[in-house]
Amino acid sequence: MTVQIDHALEEIRRFRPSPEFAAQSVADPALYEAANADRLGFWADQARELLTWHKPFTRTLDWSNPPFARWFDDGELNVAVNCLDRHVAAGLGDRVAIHFEGEPGDSRDITYAELTDEVKRAANVLEGLGVGTGDRVAIYLPMIPEAVVAMLAVARIGAIHSVVFGGFSSDSLASRIDDAEAKLVITADGGYRKGRVFPLKPTVDEAIGKSAGSVENVLVVQRTGNDITLEPGRDEWWHDTVGAAASEHEATAFEAEHPLFILYTSGTTGKPKGVVHSSGGYLTQVAFTHKYVFDLHPETDVYWCTADVGWVTGHSYVVYGPLANGATQVLYEGTPDTPHPGRWWEIVEKYKVSILYTAPTAIRSFMKLGRQIPHEFNLRSLRLLGSVGEPINPEAWIWYRHVIGGGSIPVVDTWWQTETGAIMISALPGITDLKPGSAQVPIPGISIDILSDDGTPVEGEGGGLLVVSEPWPSMLRGIWGDPERFKETYWEKFGDKYFAGDGARRDEDGDIWLLGRVDDVMNVSGHRLSTAEIESSLVAHPWTAEAAVVGASDETTGQAVVAFVILKASQADVASADVAAASEELRKHVATQIGAIARPRQVFIVNELPKTRSGKIMRRLLRDLAEGRQIGDTTTLADTSIMQIISEQVK
Ligand code: WT7
Repeated sequence: MTVQIDHALEEIRRFRPSPEFAAQSVADPALYEAANADRLGFWADQARELLTWHKPFTRTLDWSNPPFARWFDDGELNVAVNCLDRHVAAGLGDRVAIHFEGEPGDSRDITYAELTDEVKRAANVLEGLGVGTGDRVAIYLPMIPEAVVAMLAVARIGAIHSVVFGGFSSDSLASRIDDAEAKLVITADGGYRKGRVFPLKPTVDEAIGKSAGSVENVLVVQRTGNDITLEPGRDEWWHDTVGAAASEHEATAFEAEHPLFILYTSGTTGKPKGVVHSSGGYLTQVAFTHKYVFDLHPETDVYWCTADVGWVTGHSYVVYGPLANGATQVLYEGTPDTPHPGRWWEIVEKYKVSILYTAPTAIRSFMKLGRQIPHEFNLRSLRLLGSVGEPINPEAWIWYRHVIGGGSIPVVDTWWQTETGAIMISALPGITDLKPGSAQVPIPGISIDILSDDGTPVEGEGGGLLVVSEPWPSMLRGIWGDPERFKETYWEKFGDKYFAGDGARRDEDGDIWLLGRVDDVMNVSGHRLSTAEIESSLVAHPWTAEAAVVGASDETTGQAVVAFVILKASQADVASADVAAASEELRKHVATQIGAIARPRQVFIVNELPKTRSGKIMRRLLRDLAEGRQIGDTTTLADTSIMQIISEQVK
């Protein structure tokens, strides 16, 4: 009985902001009032207040041709100038922009003045290489300051970056280079990870070899000193070129709708989608959310978002949001446990980090290691904690608040997506009563609905589909080269309302709880993976006849990739001889083809897959099996005894 009461109490736990926090918070309930009274006027005010425009806009939103939104579209600005030059001009040149901490322990502080100089030099080099407005540049770098410099230099000259996470394979890189027809690749010899050098340049060489030939030049940052080859006439060292370039560079302004970047993300089909983001609208919403969700006091705060720039969190909350707001931040190259399991907490102590933004999977792995590790460090500088990437379970929320936050500081859970560009649902610290496990409320100026499949609003327990019912400034502007897929994926279902692909419910207080994806997209450690993409990789292996992939719940990573594979008849001997070796070979194959993040936790070799009469694989049943649950309803299977057989084989 006591246990049940405790549980019930836990469900309704609320944490009111402390009076001290509320008193100094930058957010004010008036933000909600202003946005509710005049949504477009509110966003126009934010765009004017938070950004510097070369040419002021007079139109806020053009939604005359949905789903193609245009925000602030007669205005002009330069995104890099907003992140750099204007802070230097305002006398903040000596403020540290980046405290860089390399995995081996090297560190560098870079001021706004220094970062601005470096970006100007890099912009000169890019222009010298013939990169112009609208050209695409692929960036394949570790988490080092040059990644930030490269992105901003591309933005400064009005080119479009496509950052590819350094953990992706040469195949993945090649397909992204080809899809965007990138002219230039910016990479490094290698980076440090888990105490070792991981080479990057050789992967770029391989990718270019496989690609269709759009790449004209490669710029290579020297980070690790591993042996690489430079192809004469094509490849150059970053330090030779950027180091020698002039630090004067006149920035021109671009239209607000000018594309800023493409970022590839997994969808329901095998081919990743190139999500396109704009300049003015995107920067407005990332700056707004970075300021108010993280209660940023740029003069005193030290902010640290642990995401890699290869993901959207790194774009919006390492590069564009914090720099537009003139924040001081930590950039860390390596993994949380190298060279010791307290590495993150050592960094918090060293730089007196006050705002920490990370993912539930990281929090859960720290929980496993125990509180004695963070307790060895002084974490009293922390005053705000953020979470992103997947639902944060109340246990992890409480642990984060108590063990890392000392028990009394706000934890904000932020829901958004690569496509939304910026945070959409989150508490505002200092205003909202916090509720562990819920992402809570739409930020001011954002309209969220929960609908049933037929488009009617759903209230209460059961939940429905999460939609964004009005266009928002940082919304994706499309899928690179594929307007039809853009319409089909997000807009076909509910007309001019954006279908996010997530299930959600609203509780009696109006707080939103995210219930996971409703499509064939998995979330592994806060990263999006497509079942179809991993299936096609498995089927590309010469041994495989058929494959089905599911996301099974996992204590640490949220979900884990579990594959069921039927081998070709010619491989039957291999399989019976050594099932373990066959499944290991296939796991490795996926890691090589897509990247280590996609490596299945398990590959089960089976003789059958559960299919309906029309031949559709019933992944739901495989998920039951992978999660060790009672197998659900099998009556629609063509052969109802199949699950029995598969269960035997999986044992
Ligand atoms: C998907 C988007 C947003 C940057 C990182 C991931 C899930 C994200 C939350 C959250 C519950 C979340 C959703 C979403 N997700 N944040 N706070 N609570 N779920 O970006 O790779 O585009 O993935 O991540 O399922 O659709 P992404």
